[in-house]
Amino acid sequence: MAVRQYRHPLIPRARAPEHEQALMETSKTFRASFQQLLQRRIGEVLGDVALPASELRRRWPELRRQLDTCPRIQAAHQRRAAIQDQLWATVKAAIAGDRQRLEAVAHSQRRGPGSLQLTADLVIPSHQLKADIHRMPGGYLNAQEEDGVVTGALYDHGVFLYGQGWFGPLNDAPGRTVIEQVLACDHAGLRPRRILDLGCGAGHSTLPYAAAFPEAEVWGIDLGASLLRYASARARLLDHAVHFVQQDAERTGFGDRSFDLIVSHILLHEIPAAARRRLFAEAHRLLRPQGLMVHLDSARFLRPSTPAARYFRDTEVWVNSEPYLASSPDHAFASYALEAGFAPDRFQVQELPGHTGAGGSPHWLAFCARKC
Ligand SMILES: C[S@@+](CC[C@H](N)C(=O)[O-])C[C@H]1O[C@@H](n2cnc3c(N)ncnc32)[C@H](O)[C@@H]1O
Repeated sequence: MAVRQYRHPLIPRARAPEHEQALMETSKTFRASFQQLLQRRIGEVLGDVALPASELRRRWPELRRQLDTCPRIQAAHQRRAAIQDQLWATVKAAIAGDRQRLEAVAHSQRRGPGSLQLTADLVIPSHQLKADIHRMPGGYLNAQEEDGVVTGALYDHGVFLYGQGWFGPLNDAPGRTVIEQVLACDHAGLRPRRILDLGCGAGHSTLPYAAAFPEAEVWGIDLGASLLRYASARARLLDHAVHFVQQDAERTGFGDRSFDLIVSHILLHEIPAAARRRLFAEAHRLLRPQGLMVHLDSARFLRPSTPAARYFRDTEVWVNSEPYLASSPDHAFASYALEAGFAPDRFQVQELPGHTGAGGSPHWLAFCARKC
């Protein structure tokens, strides 16, 4: 059954909602047909028998060349990018027509539970200035937007359409997945007093922690001011107390050993290997003894399991402006944890199914480590 986005007052009102629905359908149909095209072409090049990993590695450059030079696949890449651009443009148009109301709603939530701290002179890591990730116009940081919430609104509604509902009605499936499938299963006794969500964006996955741990102080940090203004207003509208601060997750201003639980959701695939390493090290510094770090990300991006999935991931890099998807080999995450100071037997990678409420969601990888 199709998942519908929960329409809190900060979701832009589309002039033609049926157009958005049609675009989601187009995108879904296109993705399915693109997968079929890839499978067919891969079958023609490699044959129909599954190859051992070493043989696949050996033949990968030739396969890649065959796929890249296939005219039908080239046309499909153009369509892929065009659909994505259309999607963002549709949400941008809805925001433009509804901007006054959106800014007024955000303004009405300036006071309330939790807090918002912006840092005008924050040094932005250069890797986040190089691309508008997943072709989102203006990117997460949008220098054009001085004091509004447009980037937050664009991300909130755009990512729902882009994900075709995989992230659930509140786009919070990643956070709920960590709570329900990692914390409740393997750390049932955990009673965190302070929780930090790194790269929290619009706060989608931060709010489930405030709901699950009402006694805890919950913090969310991100680089983008508009995202955080939006996140703070949205959290208040949804009746949650969260502290949002504009900070670099790779070098925060928080003190040593100041959190019991540090999480991130769909952040790792959007930063390069060196930043992933710094993120693990910063999490280790910030955790109290016995504190827990969990980074959740898409298995489709970090551990593609078939040649078609790998080709899709590798071409997302340039077709969909996702420059860092393939920047760490699978085994590297354990070494980041080790270098950060986590004991080898305290680090594990869990494969998790998508949240049950978000039918068709891609599977997740959770990178978990407990500090000694
Ligand atoms: C794909 S979004 C994920 C947002 C959110 N975690 C969610 O689940 O919806 C990645 C976010 O990470 C933020 N980000 C990237 N590098 C960062 C850094 N070094 N410090 C803080 N935030 C960062 C981006 O600004 C963006 O909002």
